[in-house]
Amino acid sequence: MTMLILPGLVDAHVHLREPGAPHKEDILSGTRAALAGGVVGILDMPNNTPPTVTADALFDKQRRFQRQAVSDYGLFLGFDGEHLDPVLRLAADAVGLKLYLDETFGDLTTREPEALARLFEAWPGPGPVAIHGESPSIAMALALARRYGQRLHVCHVPHPDDLLAIDAARQAGAEVTCEVTPHHLFLDSTALERLGPYGQMKPPLVSPDDVARFWERLDLVDAVASDHAPHSRAEKEWAQPPPGVPGLETTLPLLLGAVDEGRLSLERMQSLTHHGP
Ligand code: NCD
Ligand code: ZN
Repeated sequence: MTMLILPGLVDAHVHLREPGAPHKEDILSGTRAALAGGVVGILDMPNNTPPTVTADALFDKQRRFQRQAVSDYGLFLGFDGEHLDPVLRLAADAVGLKLYLDETFGDLTTREPEALARLFEAWPGPGPVAIHGESPSIAMALALARRYGQRLHVCHVPHPDDLLAIDAARQAGAEVTCEVTPHHLFLDSTALERLGPYGQMKPPLVSPDDVARFWERLDLVDAVASDHAPHSRAEKEWAQPPPGVPGLETTLPLLLGAVDEGRLSLERMQSLTHHGP
């Protein structure tokens, strides 16, 4: 038997459901799940009800985390296309600004080109602008990041070819980081028949060939992030199931399995789950 002592994982993309939907997950259960999975720090997304797009919402969420979280944490702000000035004033209180450029669970999609340009121009950091988007939206965000010299983080890269676009933008001088989810590395679209609604998430599972390409291009990836997005069983079994799967407790065992199989070095695993995030 081998004993490994590893630095704690940092998961840069989770959706604990508080406030708004604690029947799916709350801050205590979510941060306990994190610790159980070897994750000592999480970055929480803003698509709550109400969304984390104002000072009131951000400070309310901070108070909840201060009271209940048993892991380290950081909170993302969101942008709804309207509250630009308050969001800019809150930049130092958040780990970054999350933009939803395409539809997903929640109601935060922003596509208005002028609002996006103003945001890429004005966001002061220190955290990055982080985006949820399909391939065309990623291309648009990469162009905005280059144009305004804005630091960009691409969440849950949907397709391995997006890694090539990210690489090209980096070569051209853009400061871009990105993450891939465990389900895009360890599941493919052939699992949908077996998993039904439990295999539905955004971005969707990709073909076995594309999974292989994600592995081939893993050098271009900064972090593995779970996109932990729990829903209740009843919700998943509705006619229109919401997208999302939990992942806080499965990321580390999956990656260690890949290390055991020789598909990933232990050093690289640590850079994807600790140093990268
Ligand atoms: C996420 C959720 O449920 O909040 N769902 C998902 O499928 N990943 C939203 C998101 O990150 O797109
Ligand atoms: Zn997400």
